Amino acid sequence: MKQTLVLLACACLALASCSRKEEGSRVDRLLAEMTLEEKIGQLNQYTGRWEMTGPAPENDYAQTGLEMIKSGQVGSLLNVTGAEATRNAQQLAVENSRLGIPLIFGYDVIHGFRTIFPIPLGETASWEPELARKNARIAALEATAAGVHWTFAPMVDIGRDARWGRVMEGSGEDPFLGARFAAARIKGFQGEDLADAGTIAACAKHYAAYGFAEAGRDYNTVEVDERTLFNVVLPPFKACVDAGVATFMNSFNEVNGIPATANSFLVRDLLKGKWAFDGFVVSDWNSVGELIPHGVAADRKEAARLAITAGSDMDMEGNCYIAHLKELVEEGTVDESLIDDAVRRVLEVKEKLGLFDDPYRYGSAELEEMLFLSDEHVAAARDAARRSIVLLKNEGGLLPLDAGGQRIALIGELAADKDSPLGNWRAQAVPGSAVSVLEGMQARVNTPSMLLYERGPQYLLARPSFLVNVEINTTDRNGMAEAVAAARRADVAVVVMGENGFQSGEGRSVTDLKPRGLQLELLEQVLEVNRNVVVVLMNGRPLDISSFIDRVPSVLVTWQGGSESGNAIADVLFGEYNPSGKLPVSWPRSAGQLPMYYNHKNTGRPTGSPGQVTWSSYTDQTREPLFPFGYGLSYTEFEYSGLTLDKNSMGIEDSIRLTVTLTNTGDRFGEEVVQLYVRDLVGTVTRPVKELKGFRKVGLEPGASAEVEFTLRAEDLHYYGADNRWGVEPGEFRVWVGPSSAGGAEASFVIE
Ligand code: GLC
Repeated sequence: MKQTLVLLACACLALASCSRKEEGSRVDRLLAEMTLEEKIGQLNQYTGRWEMTGPAPENDYAQTGLEMIKSGQVGSLLNVTGAEATRNAQQLAVENSRLGIPLIFGYDVIHGFRTIFPIPLGETASWEPELARKNARIAALEATAAGVHWTFAPMVDIGRDARWGRVMEGSGEDPFLGARFAAARIKGFQGEDLADAGTIAACAKHYAAYGFAEAGRDYNTVEVDERTLFNVVLPPFKACVDAGVATFMNSFNEVNGIPATANSFLVRDLLKGKWAFDGFVVSDWNSVGELIPHGVAADRKEAARLAITAGSDMDMEGNCYIAHLKELVEEGTVDESLIDDAVRRVLEVKEKLGLFDDPYRYGSAELEEMLFLSDEHVAAARDAARRSIVLLKNEGGLLPLDAGGQRIALIGELAADKDSPLGNWRAQAVPGSAVSVLEGMQARVNTPSMLLYERGPQYLLARPSFLVNVEINTTDRNGMAEAVAAARRADVAVVVMGENGFQSGEGRSVTDLKPRGLQLELLEQVLEVNRNVVVVLMNGRPLDISSFIDRVPSVLVTWQGGSESGNAIADVLFGEYNPSGKLPVSWPRSAGQLPMYYNHKNTGRPTGSPGQVTWSSYTDQTREPLFPFGYGLSYTEFEYSGLTLDKNSMGIEDSIRLTVTLTNTGDRFGEEVVQLYVRDLVGTVTRPVKELKGFRKVGLEPGASAEVEFTLRAEDLHYYGADNRWGVEPGEFRVWVGPSSAGGAEASFVIE
């Protein structure tokens, strides 16, 4: 019997592989049948009118769009979600167009779908890529239930300038950390096989260097030298290719004079050539059409030619491909082979998703009902939010609070805000559905009367949205007196301040990082009547807190923590969870220091004596961050000792094993992110003063110790050098192991 079953299983596998081989020729067969118009239709993506994530298109194609779907002139829709809506749209294409090629539905599933996780920058502060993978897995399950096939995530842009609103969407300033979170999120979204119903195609974006926009101003010019491009910007994108990402998305910006959407070097030569990426590239919203304002295309026809030639396969909301590619091919300006390559890439992703087998396999009202905000998903959101929180300061052990014996004044509009914790790019979160800090704390205190909430002055003047900026009150001080009075009567005042959920994200560049409105004034007045103040930041980016950091005993960074934000913050405030997050970005003292990043070059004048001016510094402020990359405290203490290397020199094919002893010298369980940094002291080009090359989160009971080991390969030290190739040069290296990018146990080694 058993033998029969084994034989049967083998037969099924053989059949499957045949059908897959058969399937492999299905795309060839389909391509051969398609007219030029039908091919171009596959490269055309429209947004559903239901939810706009970009400027409304000039021609309102709402009605023509439906006709175009039925006639096979649309290959993909974005911003259409829900089992019913996606099924209806799919039927239009499959049951009306000549070949019945299914649509692929794309959507920005950035940090959750209905259950919302911390914004990606906050999730990265956990320094737990596995956590990010699990959260992406949950997001994919909810998204597929809603009929979504493809997410425009992970966003892997390195962010060194907090003026840029989209720092909230990435993994911070470091390529090593960013690459690991990018790969983890892709694994979460795509699972082991895109043919599995609960997996979605991922999208590495925005290719490339979008975060290097000059002055932190969104969509602005990017000038980046080739070495920074290869050593800093591109490693997370290469990690996406290595992780098997199904698609890429162009960025809006130019890169050294050539817009990314028309950049043959980046797309055709590097991504599809050298890196052999076999998925497809979608433009960002009308980034094909924006080649005209960029000044490299005279009209949409020229824009279409440049983009398809450079390797941009699908035109999102640009109406350039659908309007001009046919003409370009027929007049011989664009070879049809370029169209065929682009269409093949699109069709192969649709095939991997199983859409040819069953165009309706995604989307189930029953699954939506079962999965959205399920207990399991909500618990995961709470855990993720807790693990993302960073403790910047805790003087005198003011935290954790005592849920039973303290009179607590909770102050600030953000403390009761159930919407801001959802952050920007919140997918299908129900507005106002997050647990607020107030609700989280009310659920924890033993005696409700011991928790007094006062909003203080109004913060928001009008409800913002994705495309509408926030309006903030700067004049009406009603509520200030009541808040101050509450602080005066309390044992401790918890002041929640920072940003509304739509103050960061796309198009949210700022010139000043200070908390806006009357928040700082409110805090000052609270400090005058009570010294026991905990500031809880709710933020999409690092904020300028230099005006009060020396006078507030405790400061927590909670980012925008998602659906379970308030419960997670209460868990940390009352000590249910010991904060373990570490900063994924350097925390500046002011916007004037930006761009700021730990892995900077040394310059020729790195140090100077007090009062001296002729060195790389500022005369009005220190050049150092307020808190360094990788920094974060715990309610316990950790000690590092005994850093040892198994050898002090290695060849270029060799590796060194480093061991350090970590001890929890405090009185409670805690988790520490042990970080490994390296410096190449002399190179044929200038090298960063430090580079992250390893990290590990270790949990220890009080008094316990652990040997933490890293293997550092010479290969890990490769960089793109003077001769424009990857490699490592012999010479001396420093190595640090510690709790952040500042300090740590130090040693040296040599590469021979
Ligand atoms: C937006 C964003 C991009 C997003 C796309 C679709 O403009 O730049 O990240 O995926 O349009 O919403």
